[in-house]
Amino acid sequence: MRIERPHPEIGALATGVDVRALDDGDWQTLYRAWLDGIVLVVRDQTLTKAEFLAYSRRFGRLKPHRVRRTRDPEHAELTVMGIGTRKADGRVDASIYNRGGHWHTDSPWDDEICKGTQLYGVAIPSSGGDTAFASMYAAYDALPDDLRQRIAGLEAEYIYGGRKREGHDLLEPEDRERPPAVHPLVRRHEETGRLSLYANPHHIVRIRGLSEAESDALVRTLTPYMVETPVQYRHAWRKGDIVIWDNRCGLHRACGGYPIDEARIHWRTTIMQDGVPQRLAA
Ligand code: SIN
Repeated sequence: MRIERPHPEIGALATGVDVRALDDGDWQTLYRAWLDGIVLVVRDQTLTKAEFLAYSRRFGRLKPHRVRRTRDPEHAELTVMGIGTRKADGRVDASIYNRGGHWHTDSPWDDEICKGTQLYGVAIPSSGGDTAFASMYAAYDALPDDLRQRIAGLEAEYIYGGRKREGHDLLEPEDRERPPAVHPLVRRHEETGRLSLYANPHHIVRIRGLSEAESDALVRTLTPYMVETPVQYRHAWRKGDIVIWDNRCGLHRACGGYPIDEARIHWRTTIMQDGVPQRLAA
């Protein structure tokens, strides 16, 4: 197995390995590369759904995604992304074509922190369709001291799609009015011990204890640190790639821009961190 680092702080690309037959040493190396790189790509895999689920489970418990209609009918823990980019009348369905098109972490609207998300590239278009990733360690490190002090101890509320409720039509009616989940703006990563900014500009509703105007202004101030950090990795997909990202310390977005009538299909799993208490940053 060979692991390359496209950037010293983000991204790790593994080749020469079959995830169906990993020995303990290679597994430990991959896991460490993921923690260090925030995003881990394993190239050239040929997997069944059951094999992809088994590999995903090595990272932690899998949780079925809240969007029920894109779950695989036989495996609730597996979401199939990218099916149905056109509506019956021929118009583009943006909630499928652009799913994940804003900078975000996955599942901040869930009380349980989602440790990782893993995608497997099943069908990849001839151009476009990349996924971009940004380091929230770097975002936190770049904050001026007064801003760091201002956000220490603050918590934010999140709902699916944020205040605009974007993508809500993907949810079943009974899942649309769930109460917000609350998470600290600064997190200490449970495994690396590093501090990161966790402010998810897409799904945020408000920062607790601030007026709506103050909360919006603070999100606007924090957002450039998150989405303009130079510590980014942009993944150009190949069929057979597995990509896992760490939602505790990174943002990502689907870059779109692929031909609408070419298939871009991924299998997706949501990986939880059981037994690891969430801690406020010191
Ligand atoms: C996501 O945001 O979960 C999907 C990213 C992608 O499709 O590139």
